[in-house]
Amino acid sequence: MCGIVGYVGKNNPIESLIDGLKKLEYRGYDSSGIAIKGNNNIQIIKSTGRIIELEDKIKETKLIKSNLGIAHTRWATHGEANEINAHPHKVGKVTLVHNGIIENARDLKNKLVNEGIVFRSETDTEVAAAVINAYYKGNPIQAITKAIKQLKGSFAFGLIFEDQDKLYAVRKDSPLIVGIGEDENFIASDIAAIIKYTDKYMLLDDNEVVELSKNEVNVYKDGEKIDKKVETSNISIEDANKGSYKHFMLKEIMEEPIVLQRTLNKYLKKPSKLFDVSDYEEIHIVACGSALYAGMVGRVLLEEKANIRCITECASEYRYKKVIYDRKTLVILVSQSGETADTIAAMRKAHEEGIDTLAIVNVTTSTIAREAKNSIFIEAGPEIAVATTKAYLLQVAMFSLIALNTAKSKELEKNYEKIVDEGKHISKYLNKILKDKDIFKEVGKELKNCKDAFYIGRGIDYAICKEGSLKLKEVSYTHSDAYEAGELKHGTISLIEDDMPVIAVITDEKIKDKTESNVIEVEARAAKIFTITNDDSIKNHHFKYVVEKISDYFQPILIVPPLQLIGYYTADSRNLDIDKPRNLAKSVTVE
Ligand code: M6R
Repeated sequence: MCGIVGYVGKNNPIESLIDGLKKLEYRGYDSSGIAIKGNNNIQIIKSTGRIIELEDKIKETKLIKSNLGIAHTRWATHGEANEINAHPHKVGKVTLVHNGIIENARDLKNKLVNEGIVFRSETDTEVAAAVINAYYKGNPIQAITKAIKQLKGSFAFGLIFEDQDKLYAVRKDSPLIVGIGEDENFIASDIAAIIKYTDKYMLLDDNEVVELSKNEVNVYKDGEKIDKKVETSNISIEDANKGSYKHFMLKEIMEEPIVLQRTLNKYLKKPSKLFDVSDYEEIHIVACGSALYAGMVGRVLLEEKANIRCITECASEYRYKKVIYDRKTLVILVSQSGETADTIAAMRKAHEEGIDTLAIVNVTTSTIAREAKNSIFIEAGPEIAVATTKAYLLQVAMFSLIALNTAKSKELEKNYEKIVDEGKHISKYLNKILKDKDIFKEVGKELKNCKDAFYIGRGIDYAICKEGSLKLKEVSYTHSDAYEAGELKHGTISLIEDDMPVIAVITDEKIKDKTESNVIEVEARAAKIFTITNDDSIKNHHFKYVVEKISDYFQPILIVPPLQLIGYYTADSRNLDIDKPRNLAKSVTVE
């Protein structure tokens, strides 16, 4: 939920720290700060607002000579987003930046206050710094190793010590990688933050402490030195930049045909056993936000095509509710980042009950990818915009493949080869939709002044509407909701006012007449109807966009870009900060 970067090496750290923070801004953007170490002193500069404001402040400051520093971009949890609460926090000889939540911070703080420690901020991070400082007697590895035993919750820490010339880091349940450069080394929440400098990295496991100098990286577990593998990242510098696009969100939507075809081809050519879930009697799809909505599409496909019992549940509920595992159950976890705290907890709950898990995940180095019993990687590449687009599309596509392969294995699908063949050429339909993007720009302009909108559909169309509605609300700040089309008249229809936009998704052949009737009901109350369909014969009430009619397995994929583009262009017509909507962060690593 926050971004961390650290540098030690041949250069002054400011450039790489600021570069890194800019790449990590998607993780939080309400305040930021850096700490750099000089001979025997530490200089800290903090600012509220965006990284650019921190950068301006740094430019106005006389900086000490340094080749070691840590930096942080914050999404506030403990205490409001002001300069005092912004990281880094310094207590005694310890200065640190933190991503995660220390759950027992209040108890630890009370104890430390009784011992005479004075705290300046409201953060749990300052408490962690004080705990480490209390253990620090000149040996950072020892102090960190002892201190983390006292901390409950999740953390990725980047640390510098006033009397040491090395960079330190440790993590538990929060992401952190170690970047290996030439005469310089890094820590970062995500490889994209340092890809400009190195593609070599090391993954840290829970509670491993790393010590970095210009030419050396040592990792310790329980105080003992251990060996770690150095890996090479396949992301490119272009992946982490928006090129000529105005926003990452638009760039990532435009990448959809390529990433979809690349991933589909890989899995269609050589279907993995993981796509066949016919051994299970019941599937639980557990995720948060858009990933959950991808799962809702998956549920309909699995039920209807593979005749398999399936539920979807948001991870924040699933982790605490009583779940009855009385059938052979598979829990499918869906997560772009693989770091969503509630989804991780749901996965661990399933493991504790001895239940199999399958993760559909993008970030291969993430906690979920590493801990799930099996993983399917969607290969969307880095997704920088806070609002997910290409990753959601690929999550849906993975459910298409799971339903298809399970249906085949259960001998429920006679047209398997034909459908596989269709999947191999699906990007041509997506390309056509994206070529039409200006049509949706006009829709966005039309929605510029609307305050409320509804999305309606039935069955699988309703599941897609959930995501369409979320896209509109999160990036354009329009109040919107998705309804099962038949549900609207049980109360909500009273909200329909003149010219209120209602976006109707109609692709499901067997119930399209029913949805059309519901459309007529809202049109009769003067709503403005925007229809996205695969059936040209459906009436155009105000706006209609028709996508290609393809197999039921892949049809949802073609509805996704039009809805994403409507959300994007509505926000663009309002000149909003689309890639970093207010109050959000890309990966929700806290409860
Ligand atoms: O990284 P995850 O897929 O686990 O994230 C889950 C949600 O937080 C995420 O999909 C969120 O809803 C998106 N920002 C929506 O665009």
